[in-house]
Amino acid sequence: MTKELEAILAYHQASKHNFKSYAPGPHRLDLRLKPDSFLNYHGTRLLNLEIWSDEQTKAEIYPTYEQAFSPEKLKPSELNAKSISRLFFDSFAISVWKLAEGTEWPLRVNPSSGNLHPTEVYLLSGPMKGLLKNPSICHYAPLPHALEIRAEFSQATWKLLSSGFPEGTFFVGLSSIFWRVSWKYGLRAFRYAQHDIGHAIAALTFAAAGLGWKTSLLPDMSSKDIAALLGISGEKGPEKQEPACLLAVYPAEKTCTKSRTSSVVISDFKNLSWKGIPNSLSPEHVEWVGIEDAASAAQKRETDYLDKREESNEKLKEELKEKSNEKLKEQLKEKSNEELKEELKEELKEELKEKSNEELKEELKSNMQAASSLKASSFKNLLNLDTVPLREVIRKRRSAIEMNNSAYLENEIFYAMLQRTLPENNPIFNSLAFGPFTHLLLFVNHVKDLLPGLYIFLRKPEEKDRLKAAIRPDFLWEKPKNCPSDLEFYLLMEETLDSFAAQLSCKQRKAADSCFTACMLSEFEEPLKRFGAWMYPYLFWECGILGQLLYLEAEAYGLRGCGIGCFFDDPLHDAIGLKGLEFQDLYHFAVGYPLPEIGVLTLPAYEK
Ligand SMILES: Cc1cc2nc3c(=O)[nH]c(=O)nc-3n(C[C@H](O)[C@H](O)[C@H](O)COP(=O)(O)O)c2cc1C
Repeated sequence: MTKELEAILAYHQASKHNFKSYAPGPHRLDLRLKPDSFLNYHGTRLLNLEIWSDEQTKAEIYPTYEQAFSPEKLKPSELNAKSISRLFFDSFAISVWKLAEGTEWPLRVNPSSGNLHPTEVYLLSGPMKGLLKNPSICHYAPLPHALEIRAEFSQATWKLLSSGFPEGTFFVGLSSIFWRVSWKYGLRAFRYAQHDIGHAIAALTFAAAGLGWKTSLLPDMSSKDIAALLGISGEKGPEKQEPACLLAVYPAEKTCTKSRTSSVVISDFKNLSWKGIPNSLSPEHVEWVGIEDAASAAQKRETDYLDKREESNEKLKEELKEKSNEKLKEQLKEKSNEELKEELKEELKEELKEKSNEELKEELKSNMQAASSLKASSFKNLLNLDTVPLREVIRKRRSAIEMNNSAYLENEIFYAMLQRTLPENNPIFNSLAFGPFTHLLLFVNHVKDLLPGLYIFLRKPEEKDRLKAAIRPDFLWEKPKNCPSDLEFYLLMEETLDSFAAQLSCKQRKAADSCFTACMLSEFEEPLKRFGAWMYPYLFWECGILGQLLYLEAEAYGLRGCGIGCFFDDPLHDAIGLKGLEFQDLYHFAVGYPLPEIGVLTLPAYEK
């Protein structure tokens, strides 16, 4: 085991909450040290972006929420000041201000545990109509909804940087300031910051989809190169930014096969004249050495996984072609024409026999499906997401504060939501180059025509036997009668478990009052051993992406979601009989009907 892997596993164990003790954290909140949740680079040139009022957003019926799942069918927006304004407005901007008891605080389009927002966002782009005269790297400032130009660079450098990417590509970089979260949550903050990156990746992807654009995470980039491109290399001290990832954004009709930018340009970035001095976030800090250790263990080196995957696919194809050609030549040499003819005849007969068997099987299968249950995909039309405007869903997303425990969810909607979390054919998961690794363990509390209890939804059906062997042998593994045939969804235990769900989620009532609470059970030890310690953040990113999808699904169907980062890790593992580190519970998410907030006023984002 490498020392990085050892360090990341040590962090994982140390940052677990248990019934007897929570992960190390501050004993009380020192409000004097509360970090500023907005970073600004003083002295930079500010480019104000366009703003839309709530009324304007409401009036935008198109694109619909459903269209966000096939952005290639939308006409891609031209890359200019307006479309970039829209992209940031729909992904990382302020969504509303809240006011209660004389205190005001902003919420954003992307969620964050404790509303602490460790994620910083950067735009890396060539010249852009109405916005950028030169290729530039800009920091996004949500409070004024503006870009701060940190550095400009030459057209030649931009050419090198974007070479091989589809025409019309620009990049978005993400970083984390762990102190913003550790101030409140201590050691567990590193995990929460990674969840937030996952939410941010998905928030960007949905906003891009609305403009007919696609995102691709560049998985072969090194942490060091990302830091250099974002101008945050060599930052030191408790308020430093840690690079997370770089994404290419481009017209959705095009395909991006690149997995990293050219490393030749990195030295150019080191020598740029970087502008701006970051504001100080807190007057003093509390050090969490474990976070520092985890962050340095999870640093990624440059890799060539995707190139290799493409290469080995190509090689395999070539080899197969070669082999079949060789075989044919050999056969021709060895056999007379007559012999060959006879053989071909026999082969043809066999093929016909097989084909008719296959056809018969298909017919039987489709008859069986029609006779048994409806396919989840056919719910889509039934539920009419085609008329729900995307932008309203995105900007209305909130975390439920309290949920109504007497409201029941229609099982068709529940199944449609599960189906949406499947990695196939869902561009939201395209941005993840590795994985999927995560299954959903579900506490079903209030879903019509489903017995309350513990269920499992397999996002990779082929893992059924593995999971069956990993958890309690007395679980039922029964598919509910009304479950669509194409969903691997099983009842494990029939019992009213809502209070237990809440107890496991740090005693938070919303996990019990929800219609369902999902626990994200991720493959853990094997991907970490296969790829390295840097895979640890990726596992949390996948959970964050799933969480963001559930937030928006909930909103689109008139419900409300809430991420739950506080839960008791090993007590849940024990409850389902999970031993060792083969799978780990990495995030919870509750979906239900929200209760109205009392005593809190909601004010528009930018109209004060
Ligand atoms: C990773 C993550 C973990 C969270 N954990 C909890 C939690 O344990 N309990 C809770 O009530 N809210 C939790 N939240 C919700 C946040 O508190 C919420 O996103 C934040 O207050 C901002 O509000 P908004 O989502 O309405 O914009 C979590 C959110 C995220 C993204």
